[in-house]
Amino acid sequence: MYPTSRPRRLRTTPALRRLVSETSIEPRRLVLPMFVKEGATEPVPIMSMPGVVQHTRDSLRKAAAEAVAAGVGGIMLFGVPATRDAAGSAGADPEGVLNVALRDVRAEVGDDTVVMADTCLDEFTDHGHCGVLDQHGRVDNDATLAAYAELAVAQVESGAHMVGPSGMMDGQVGTIRAALDGAGHTDAGILAYSAKFASAFYGPFREAVDSQLHGDRKTYQQDPANAREALREVALDLAEGADVVMVKPAMSYTDVLRAVAEVSDVPVAAYQVSGEYSMIEAAAANGWLDRQRTVLEALTSIRRAGADVVLTYWAVQAAGWLSE
Ligand code: PBG
Repeated sequence: MYPTSRPRRLRTTPALRRLVSETSIEPRRLVLPMFVKEGATEPVPIMSMPGVVQHTRDSLRKAAAEAVAAGVGGIMLFGVPATRDAAGSAGADPEGVLNVALRDVRAEVGDDTVVMADTCLDEFTDHGHCGVLDQHGRVDNDATLAAYAELAVAQVESGAHMVGPSGMMDGQVGTIRAALDGAGHTDAGILAYSAKFASAFYGPFREAVDSQLHGDRKTYQQDPANAREALREVALDLAEGADVVMVKPAMSYTDVLRAVAEVSDVPVAAYQVSGEYSMIEAAAANGWLDRQRTVLEALTSIRRAGADVVLTYWAVQAAGWLSE
């Protein structure tokens, strides 16, 4: 008996495989997260993320221009301040590192790519939590919302096309939308970190932003075990006016990504986080994985699961490989 159906027939030549390939990655879909460190005079390498640095103001501008030249769809900026306080007040300060960097980057790239900012307090607080604390040391949801509203308005006024609330406070999208609209910024978008899990894969990011956190974020970020709850979070963010919803991390949550893609009526993003980057970089440095093939396979799997947009530290490099 010979098989009557032969899937292998469509794999015969590179041209056939290219013709029937179901999923593609385009540089325009990739968003590059970037770090800028207050007072830095040289870019500071992040040891746990080989190839990624904390930028100076100058090197950030140059790297942003390179990302535009590579065709990258957006950049997501994170600030690393020189001083921190309990309220994270450097975040909303127009002279704070992130707002200064947003002005620099917009002056450099204009509207040639989408400039986004991380809208969260953890980089700016001396305790490292994503919100302000109450008298018992717990993250105070509603006091934090007021801070996020100020943060978002300051970021948009500094040049962000979109803000990225990443702190998983209840009501953060609706509060920020109202604040932006109230300040006349009806065109500024919200990329909502809707289903963000309390993940070990953020490990290297802590070094990237010199994080002060002791403990964990489990009272605000989601339990990795919960997919249904992710859909609840997404539904709330959509009702509150999210322009893009995001799942984070990406690779260990492709089932969540698929489920979100099926219900969302706005574009869906996924964040391939620091630990996902570092794992592949470490294995590639040892010669255990082929770097380019592994990265492109990982990005393809995230796209295949349903992401329209992917935040990845490889955005520029992948864009280069994709246009070879
Ligand atoms: C919070 C924030 C984090 C990341 C992006 N925004 C850290 C956290 O939630 O602990 C992680 C990104 C990464 O690991 O690449 N502002």
